[in-house]
Amino acid sequence: MSKVALILVVFNVMSPAVEALDNGLALKPTMGWLHWERFMCNTDCEADPDNCISERLYMQMADMMVKEGWKEAGYEYVCIDDCWPSHQRDDHGRLQADPKRFPGGIKKLADYVHSKGLKLGIYSDVGDKTCAGYPGSLGYYETDAQTFADWGVDLLKFDGCNMKWTSLGEGYINMSKALNKTGKSILYSCEWPLYEWPFQKPNYTAIRETCNHWRNFNDVFDSWSSVKSIMEWTASHQDIIVPSAGPGGWNDPDMLVIGNFGLSHSQQESQMALWAIMAAPLFMSNDLRDICPRSKKLLQNRWIIDINQDPLGKQGYRTAKGNSFEVWERPLSKNRLAIAVLNQQEIGGPRGFAIRDVPGWKYCDPQCNVTLILPQYKEMGVQPKGSELVLPVNPSGTALLTVSLISRDFNKLHWKKTSV
Ligand SMILES: *[C@@H]1O[C@H](CO)[C@@H](O)[C@H](O)[C@H]1NC(C)=O
Ligand SMILES: *[C@@H]1O[C@H](CO)[C@@H](O)[C@H](O)[C@H]1NC(C)=O
Ligand SMILES: *[C@@H]1O[C@H](CO)[C@@H](O)[C@H](O)[C@H]1NC(C)=O
Ligand SMILES: *[C@@H]1O[C@H](CO)[C@@H](O)[C@H](O)[C@H]1NC(C)=O
Repeated sequence: MSKVALILVVFNVMSPAVEALDNGLALKPTMGWLHWERFMCNTDCEADPDNCISERLYMQMADMMVKEGWKEAGYEYVCIDDCWPSHQRDDHGRLQADPKRFPGGIKKLADYVHSKGLKLGIYSDVGDKTCAGYPGSLGYYETDAQTFADWGVDLLKFDGCNMKWTSLGEGYINMSKALNKTGKSILYSCEWPLYEWPFQKPNYTAIRETCNHWRNFNDVFDSWSSVKSIMEWTASHQDIIVPSAGPGGWNDPDMLVIGNFGLSHSQQESQMALWAIMAAPLFMSNDLRDICPRSKKLLQNRWIIDINQDPLGKQGYRTAKGNSFEVWERPLSKNRLAIAVLNQQEIGGPRGFAIRDVPGWKYCDPQCNVTLILPQYKEMGVQPKGSELVLPVNPSGTALLTVSLISRDFNKLHWKKTSV
């Protein structure tokens, strides 16, 4: 494994986390369901009543979330994306839902979702139009924030289309203030850095003060190349973005596409494992009315969700790369470390990765307790520093494990690394 680059920096005092938006929300990465990747801007309820963007879709998803164990697993927010509103604001300048597709209106939908013990998310845009051409919030930030609060909405996804990039920050900050002014805590999901990166390096201190999570990179598609590109972008910008993540504010690599059409099961495991390592919000975009049991089991895997929701709240890093493997590590509470080993090779069968080649393994002195989570749960027991343990990893799959460091000095150690 000599090709694996091992770079590990250890330091004793963590720099203090940047100040988070103070609305009491997103203390752990948000979990829920969001319509976009699977249902997009399907507004044709006559031709496709089961899959069009309508109140019925969210009510059915809310029903499924309760009935099929999603809520119990931690998925809480049912979120509307673009294409919900009418093209016209009402006589008071307020947004209104499309009357044909949302005959009961958003307030009633929010009441329904709340009656199931779930929360409702809605969508708007910082510019004058949404990405799909519906009315945007520019010039109406306070009106729209108050409308959402009056309806009982719990989360706002605020897109960045159709806005002069030099005004993006101002717009996102103004909406954050408008939400605060309503007096109702509304989780604020931003796309500010995504739209700013083409022009300049975003100010993550300001973003963390303003938003509960923020998209940095392209929309996810239902394909392995898309999921891979998001992981690669994250790793290659990790020194800039990872320090800004923590309770109250998270980097958002976009939706989980597990349970759809484009990923093999091993690739679905990779997305789930890496989204856990990245402390990512877990928004599924799939059809909960029709999902294969294996994907469902993966999305509800409590060991992986526990890593994602770990109370230490530190995002992981890619710590090594070589021989067509990537190693990602995330520090967890209780002196544990989550490790993901991704096999980038897309040909052949499972390949072995020696656990002692994980950079963090060098702290397993004299020994570590190893628990394998993917591809299947298995307690591997206490392993010595020179462990011969080899993890078989499927092509484009991931081995996910946690190690508990049984070491006198671990309390003093913190993990960080530089880009590889
Ligand atoms: C509004 O902001 C203040 C100051 O940051 C904070 O204390 C308060 O909880 C916020 N209110 C809401 C509803 O987010
Ligand atoms: C943000 O608010 C400030 C102060 O009210 C205002 O001057 C500015 O035009 C606003 N910017 C946007 C994009 O709404
Ligand atoms: C980034 O934003 C913070 C908080 O708003 C501000 O104090 C700081 O000056 C900004 N940094 C730069 C380089 O603009
Ligand atoms: C190792 O971890 C497993 C599962 O996390 C746990 O059941 C077991 O007690 C641990 N063993 C030791 C020696 O800590």
